[in-house]
Amino acid sequence: MSSALTDLFPHPIVQAPMAGGVSVPHLAQAVSEAGGLGFLAAGYKTADGMYQEIKQLRGLTTKPFGVNLFMPQPEYADKAAVDVYAHQLAGEAAWYDTELGDPDSGRDDGYEAKLAVLLDNPVPVVSFHFGVPSSEVLESLRRAGTFTLVTATTPDEALAVERAGADAVIAQGVEAGGHQGTHRDNPETDGTSIGLLSLIAQFREAVGLPIVAAGGIMRGSQIAAALAAGASAAQLGTAFLATPESGANALHKQALTNPLFVRTELTRAFSGRPARGLVNRFLREHGPYAPAAYPEVHHLTSPVRKKAASSGDPQGMALWAGQGHRMAREMPAGQLVEVLVAELDAAATALSGGGIR
Ligand SMILES: Cc1cc2nc3c(=O)[nH]c(=O)nc-3n(C[C@H](O)[C@H](O)[C@H](O)COP(=O)(O)O)c2cc1C
Repeated sequence: MSSALTDLFPHPIVQAPMAGGVSVPHLAQAVSEAGGLGFLAAGYKTADGMYQEIKQLRGLTTKPFGVNLFMPQPEYADKAAVDVYAHQLAGEAAWYDTELGDPDSGRDDGYEAKLAVLLDNPVPVVSFHFGVPSSEVLESLRRAGTFTLVTATTPDEALAVERAGADAVIAQGVEAGGHQGTHRDNPETDGTSIGLLSLIAQFREAVGLPIVAAGGIMRGSQIAAALAAGASAAQLGTAFLATPESGANALHKQALTNPLFVRTELTRAFSGRPARGLVNRFLREHGPYAPAAYPEVHHLTSPVRKKAASSGDPQGMALWAGQGHRMAREMPAGQLVEVLVAELDAAATALSGGGIR
């Protein structure tokens, strides 16, 4: 690991920030206490909501942790396409006895206000999704003593992250659950996302930054593979989503290993940006027609997703999950860190001792 990142936490395991109430303070606490890096997700929260979670986590542990921010989104959605999609979703709203949300409910996710909080009350690590912050922002966080990470999904994006002056880059492979952190969503590049092992190798040749590997990692042996390929640490989302500490809806947790859900797909159905989720009825019916319009589509579908969850219907929810979802283990998050470390050590020993032929 990069010295600065390794110095922060002993095991090369990062619990992915998961917006939507999944990576709650108790989950981050459990991971950080076990020697990994726990993360809070500020996405979709208010600046004050983020601050309250930070205060809560600080009351639970003195170990380092991270906070994740969404980058503000440029105005590029085709309004007419959003209207057509809203028309298509009218039946969903009627079925769940709710209204569609207002697609124009904001596109900056309170970025400036959240940054101001993080500069006033610095945290050990901040990561960014959906784009690259300015050099000034990254520099001011560095001066505040914060280590910065930015997600990238292609070597060009990794170069942009390096040029802006971040401390490390997250290599997010196509296997990853939840939203791809692509810097600018472009339907012309659909289907060109890169698998994690290849992505790590490509980043190694493109940039000199330390790499945190994300996407489909469920076992310590996969962490060993990512480290062998050149990553400094691994970021796991779906594996931690299944733990008792995660705030994910129980239906979402159960669906990960429910044989009814046979596969995942990248879809714009729920948010207007490609994100990987378990294929359910909503994804199947609407995915092919959803426009590239984030966060408009996110706002539009929000009441439907909430009502589906409260009525116990996983077929109308966004069941974000990585390709390894079937390997999810329900054990407590601290224990999961310990098991992953043991598996990582076993894989490393096998490699160095010639145990793998
Ligand atoms: C439910 C869920 C929510 C997520 N939310 C965020 C988020 O708020 N910010 C972020 O940077 N990444 C988010 N991600 C992506 C993760 O950072 C990471 O790339 C992904 O979980 C790795 O793949 P895996 O789920 O197969 O481990 C989310 C992933 C999931 C599964």
